[in-house]
Amino acid sequence: MTSSASSSYAPSGLDDIVQAIRSKYAEVSVSAAGKFQYLVGKEGAKALGYDTAVIEAAPEQFFESSCGIGNPFSLGMIKPGSALLDFGCGAGFDLFVAGRLVGEKGRVFGIDLTEEMVQKARENLTLAGVVNFEVRKVDSDIIPYDGISFDVVISNGVINLSPDKGIAFKEIYRVLKPKGKLCFADVVLEGELPADLAGSAEAWSQ
Ligand SMILES: C[S@@+](CC[C@H](N)C(=O)[O-])C[C@H]1O[C@@H](n2cnc3c(N)ncnc32)[C@H](O)[C@@H]1O
Repeated sequence: MTSSASSSYAPSGLDDIVQAIRSKYAEVSVSAAGKFQYLVGKEGAKALGYDTAVIEAAPEQFFESSCGIGNPFSLGMIKPGSALLDFGCGAGFDLFVAGRLVGEKGRVFGIDLTEEMVQKARENLTLAGVVNFEVRKVDSDIIPYDGISFDVVISNGVINLSPDKGIAFKEIYRVLKPKGKLCFADVVLEGELPADLAGSAEAWSQ
């Protein structure tokens, strides 16, 4: 995966990037196996240090499509009763983890660019018995919440996919409460990309 604030890496257009992301993650919603150069699914969650008891409590279906690149909960800043937003929730495993941390008085919200992931997250969270959740599809980095302020925003392997990281961070800060927390795991580009990758919408979505 790639990440850069520089527009020189932008492929032909934002629509191309969104289409490439949706196409890739529609496939990942069926199965993440073999589609990444890092461990995904249950093995990935174990390698990233998620609580073993939480991994074992999660229905297997979460792991078919989970492809996070870090563990946003390792920062340990999620309190019971919190309202939490997952920016790019994928199939919902992090919302499941968060739901256990915020408890019955808390609420967890997810947004994702890919309809198939949104459907999968709703199915998975319902199957897991999470009741205090909401998952919405988005069409851009604009977060579709005006009336809710979040105690915590988490994100796992998503901001690197955003065509305009400035907008993504502005949006996250707009919906956070004063003194709210952002806990995210992401990918950073060091050095230059080869020219054939730099202009490729498909490479952007890896
Ligand atoms: C690498 S996957 C990570 C999914 C999930 N966070 C996890 O840990 O399994 C990236 C997800 O982000 C979504 N996505 C990419 N760009 C997005 C954006 N700008 N806003 C919301 N979701 C986005 C994709 O559709 C995909 O489901």
